[in-house]
Amino acid sequence: MSGILTLNPLSPQAAAISHLFVDILGVLGGIFLIVLVMVGYAIVRYRDRPGAAPPRQVFGSRKIEIVWTVIPIILLSIIFGFTVRSMHASDPPITPGTTPDLRVVAHQWWWEADYLKSGVIAANEIHIPVGQRWLLELDSADVIHDFWVAELARKIDMVPGHPNHIWLEADRPGTYLGVCAEFCGNEHAWMRFRVIAESAADFDRWQRAQLQVPPKPSGSEAAAGLKLFEQNTCVNCHTILGTPGNQSIGPDLTHFASRTTLAAGAADNTNANLYRWLKDPNSIKPDTHMPNFQFDDADAKALTAYLETLK
Ligand code: CUA
Repeated sequence: MSGILTLNPLSPQAAAISHLFVDILGVLGGIFLIVLVMVGYAIVRYRDRPGAAPPRQVFGSRKIEIVWTVIPIILLSIIFGFTVRSMHASDPPITPGTTPDLRVVAHQWWWEADYLKSGVIAANEIHIPVGQRWLLELDSADVIHDFWVAELARKIDMVPGHPNHIWLEADRPGTYLGVCAEFCGNEHAWMRFRVIAESAADFDRWQRAQLQVPPKPSGSEAAAGLKLFEQNTCVNCHTILGTPGNQSIGPDLTHFASRTTLAAGAADNTNANLYRWLKDPNSIKPDTHMPNFQFDDADAKALTAYLETLK
């Protein structure tokens, strides 16, 4: 983040809102200056001087009434025009029938990202090509959530059964923090995601990698972990391509190890944190829907080894 975000917008949508701020500030600054000059003039011109008579008293003036009714109407019309222009620039109408590029589904308490054109399904990290305006469809699997990426000035409610749409774009490559901005239960604060804007080539590379079915793990510990994943009820909630797991109740784990955080941003995605998460999810994210399977140390280690192979 460089300087004051309002004056350094990082997306065309943020720029539209920034322009509105600056334009209205200009109008208000002009009014402030005029008032300042008039007050200054009155203070000097009508100040109390020894022997001076009180100024002429005036009661009622149709001319002034008209002026101070007409001027605000003109100013508000200008501000209304600025506002409509910015609304149109930041959220232009969507042509009916346009297929969204990405469908984001909020869950208590994580984010599912379905790339409708390529078939990639990811979680908690949203990759987009830089400089391209993407249409997002936003839905919820349970309660009302709110999609908010402050730096890109994008925010909209996610209402179960009533998909909303929003444009998402970033001018520069980078990672932009996203949060849930509608209280949705105990782990609302740990419902984070990242928007990763990258060059078209990097994005294509990422997308191709995400479509790969992960190879069977070669090490014996990781192989034991895969077996544990398939034998436990992990498969009833999580998807990993190439395994029986194909549900989206919990995050898709096919390329889990390619992500920077686990549990929707509650911890960095490190070996130690993953092990701790598998041993006792509540120690990292209290009230998470991920159950505590009471894995013994060897099983938790094997599962950690397996999940770490899912690059
Ligand atoms: Cu989801 Cu707050």
